Amino acid sequence: MKSVSWWPLLAVLALVSGCSNLERSRDLANPAVAPAVTAVQVCSICHGIDGNSVSPNFPRLAAQPAGYLVAQLENFRSHQRSDPPGFEYMWGISHHLTDDQIKGLAEYFASQLAEPNAAVNPQQMAAGKAIFDNGVPEKEAAPCMACHGPKAQGLVSFPRLAGQHQDYLVKQLRVFQETEGRPGTPMKQITHLLSDQEIRAVAAYLQAFPR
Ligand code: HEC
Ligand code: HEC
Repeated sequence: MKSVSWWPLLAVLALVSGCSNLERSRDLANPAVAPAVTAVQVCSICHGIDGNSVSPNFPRLAAQPAGYLVAQLENFRSHQRSDPPGFEYMWGISHHLTDDQIKGLAEYFASQLAEPNAAVNPQQMAAGKAIFDNGVPEKEAAPCMACHGPKAQGLVSFPRLAGQHQDYLVKQLRVFQETEGRPGTPMKQITHLLSDQEIRAVAAYLQAFPR
């Protein structure tokens, strides 16, 4: 008799604790966890709660076009994007995310405001701006602006570059240039035409992109 009368209370307790767990869950393998919860509980640890990460080890995601974010999360999940920090950090994290969770996470970060980033290397700004606006005409390297937008704000599958950390940008430009870690983009051909100095200059300009 006693155990029968306890049953409804236990059921209610289980339900309530289930709810509050879902609202604070760090479980990346549970499709019931809402993307905004995952963004705040998990992604924020490295990328910042509003996507404006402080450390250059972690790319900024704020105001990044949702289409680009979806594509990158899918590429980590399918192991198509395989540069070392990509697989060390993002393969495990993306492994169990559903398509709906990926879409929701992309929308969460795309809708955050991008904070300005610190100026890095004032001597490189003019050279960086020239490459961004005009490319390197003598090498037939296309202007970055042509695809990434006049404010480096990105569009659909073209990433936002304005305010991104210089070190992260340099690292990715070398991934395109030297490896197959991010296949199937026009960036492979473009980075082949750029010197190390040109890569550093354009990345310095992009981190401190004028607003
Ligand atoms: C433990 C740290 C860590 C956590 C937690 C983390 N990330 Fe990342 N993320 C990284 C690192 C490091 C990179 C850069 C990988 C590279 O260099 O290829 C990255 C890259 C990315 C990129 C590619 C950005 C670009 O500009 O191409 C996206 C998108 C991303 N993460 C989304 C997320 C989402 C969404 C979550 C939460 C579900 C998350 N990350 C959680 C470390 C983390
Ligand atoms: C023809 C179009 C095109 C041009 C021109 C172009 N890009 Fe890109 N860029 C892309 C595309 C598309 C991607 C996304 C690649 C992917 O999905 O892996 C990209 C990705 C990048 C990334 C990776 C960003 C991240 O968050 O990981 C960087 C950095 C970058 N481009 C810098 C540049 C620079 C600097 C220039 C000028 C020297 C340039 N791009 C010119 C199309 C272009």
